Amino acid sequence: MEKGPKIIIEPPGPRAKQIIERDKNSVMQSFSRWYPLVVDKGDGVFIYDVDGNKYLDFNAGIAVNALGYSNKRLQEAITNQTQKLIHYSFTDFLYESTVRLAEKLIEISPINKDVKIFFGNSGAEANEAMMKVARWSTRRQNIIAFIGSFHGRTYGAMSLTASRPVQRRFFGPFVPNIEHVPFPYCYRCPFGLNPENCDLFCVDYIEEQVFQKFVPPEETALFIAEAIQGEGGYIPAPEAYFKKLKKF
Ligand SMILES: Cc1ncc(COP(=O)(O)O)c(C=O)c1O
Repeated sequence: MEKGPKIIIEPPGPRAKQIIERDKNSVMQSFSRWYPLVVDKGDGVFIYDVDGNKYLDFNAGIAVNALGYSNKRLQEAITNQTQKLIHYSFTDFLYESTVRLAEKLIEISPINKDVKIFFGNSGAEANEAMMKVARWSTRRQNIIAFIGSFHGRTYGAMSLTASRPVQRRFFGPFVPNIEHVPFPYCYRCPFGLNPENCDLFCVDYIEEQVFQKFVPPEETALFIAEAIQGEGGYIPAPEAYFKKLKKF
């Protein structure tokens, strides 16, 4: 058994090629696959493709498989629950397992304990819910999002997203009252400034240009931000940015 990664045939191998062909003929071709990896199984930090190549996995299902593959405790928990009950619609009825999970998440969450949990099916659904909660609870309409952001593929989440024209082309009109502002991307500053002496002009821009020219602040419900932009280019905001923004 190899300890590390091992390529036994150049990917995509024959089995992968076959599945890629079948995918083209049967699955809607709306996803952006960056390279033709056809995954078969996982074990710990490794992932295997259908031709037997073994990879050290840095994707982690796009940053969600943090417990590793074939995790025994996870398998056991899933198996036990499937033997008891798979689904009964928590939106209409209650079960203790879901309430218990909410309690656990509150207990371990690093944020204020005075929180409640929303269970959704995806990141996009979480963002849809957030927009609804923000608008409903504030009775305000405006939302600010970042240029370069990615928030999901449903209409609300897509309207927040601004990272590539292909995500918008031919899909409009979008959810209204969402304004996009530049992300603090210091390496390629959208304002052409130098982070050494710019004094975080990108926050002043929101205050002086956005809120004083066309977005009434008292009608603004939400500012959505990735602390580190993902799809926009894996860009961390400088540490002082959110402090200044929060103060503003
Ligand atoms: C920052 C961010 N938000 C939201 C999403 C959407 O998540 P989902 O694909 O689960 O809807 C993604 C997906 O990659 C994401 O990177």
